[in-house]
Amino acid sequence: MPTITYSEQSYECRGDESVLECLTRHGVELSSSCRAGVCQTCMIKATTGTPPAQAQKGLKPQLQQQGYFLACICTPMEDLTVTAADGAALPRLAATVIDKRPFNDAIVRLRLQPASGFDYRPGQFLNLHRGDGLTRSYSIASLPQDGYLELHVEHIPGGRMSGWIMNELAVEDTVQIDGPHGECFYIDADPEQNLLLVGTGSGLAPLWGIVRDALAQGHRGQIHLFHGSRSRAKLYLMDELRQFAEMHDNFFYTPCISGLDNGGLAAGRANEIALSRFAKLDGWRVYLCGHPEMVNNAKKKAFLAGAAFDQIHADPFTFGNA
Ligand SMILES: Cc1cc2nc3c(=O)[nH]c(=O)nc-3n(C[C@H](O)[C@H](O)[C@H](O)COP(=O)(O)OP(=O)(O)OC[C@H]3O[C@@H](n4cnc5c(N)ncnc54)[C@H](O)[C@@H]3O)c2cc1C
Ligand code: FES
Repeated sequence: MPTITYSEQSYECRGDESVLECLTRHGVELSSSCRAGVCQTCMIKATTGTPPAQAQKGLKPQLQQQGYFLACICTPMEDLTVTAADGAALPRLAATVIDKRPFNDAIVRLRLQPASGFDYRPGQFLNLHRGDGLTRSYSIASLPQDGYLELHVEHIPGGRMSGWIMNELAVEDTVQIDGPHGECFYIDADPEQNLLLVGTGSGLAPLWGIVRDALAQGHRGQIHLFHGSRSRAKLYLMDELRQFAEMHDNFFYTPCISGLDNGGLAAGRANEIALSRFAKLDGWRVYLCGHPEMVNNAKKKAFLAGAAFDQIHADPFTFGNA
């Protein structure tokens, strides 16, 4: 079994254990969040030995060359000596909370003012770091021209970061952020292309950014947004989205309720309603954000309906138990 050496201590990996699992099993404290190779929070550096290429996926070529890799998806094939990433590998920025308001009982809107420039595309995500090192990813709902970063955070019962954001984080507090990350954003290659966007819960955050970005850039193809929740009380931005639909002939908004009382809205899961309405997606660009099960299921169905793999942007809000 390969051995991982960290801070001059060596630990043997079990079976197909990841480097992160091996080190945490031995009491080494390493930051992590998604545990699925998405957020880059667990990035560390191999100083001897070569990490498998798959564990370096999505990292900048310069970081790959320096031996950086994602510990949560690294099943080592050989002995590795590793060190924590230095600050320059994933630079952090201070950001001040300038506004915080509830959309409803479960979802809060947070606006942050970064201390210096933060260059991003609406729909990408950032990592938010609490003072004690807890890190979680949140999608960016604002446009650069808004002048602030907007996040929509859903309170997960028992959730450490979302509970803290909901109940304790206050206006004028400062957090640390890194990013932006991810490929879920509007691409202006074909202004006539039809777009299908499906999100559940706070999965509306990146889609709100993408829709506004596409319309601001003069997108002419149809833009269909399906937003789903279990109950009407948990849907949000309904008035704003309906107003958008009135203002733009090519934008269509369908709120969906999967629970018993649909209150006159579309009844069923947003992904199922969307994919039954658009059974042929050849030539479409598709955006899927929110609960991992919904996203992964819809991704397969969109592909089977004809959407090209590289035209499907899926952002599952993957959660580990870090
Ligand atoms: C790329 C990306 C983008 C994301 N964007 C957003 C966003 O814009 N808005 C947003 O609200 N969240 C977003 N998330 C999810 C977010 O990063 C956290 O996972 C979420 O806020 C829960 O963190 P927590 O610390 O509160 O919960 P934890 O303390 O990590 O978890 C507590 C318990 O709840 C479970 N759990 C965690 N999340 C969920 C969930 N969604 N549903 C059911 N059970 C869960 C855990 O398994 C654990 O048992 C995103 C995630 C990723 C990977
Ligand atoms: S990439 Fe490893 S914890 Fe997210």
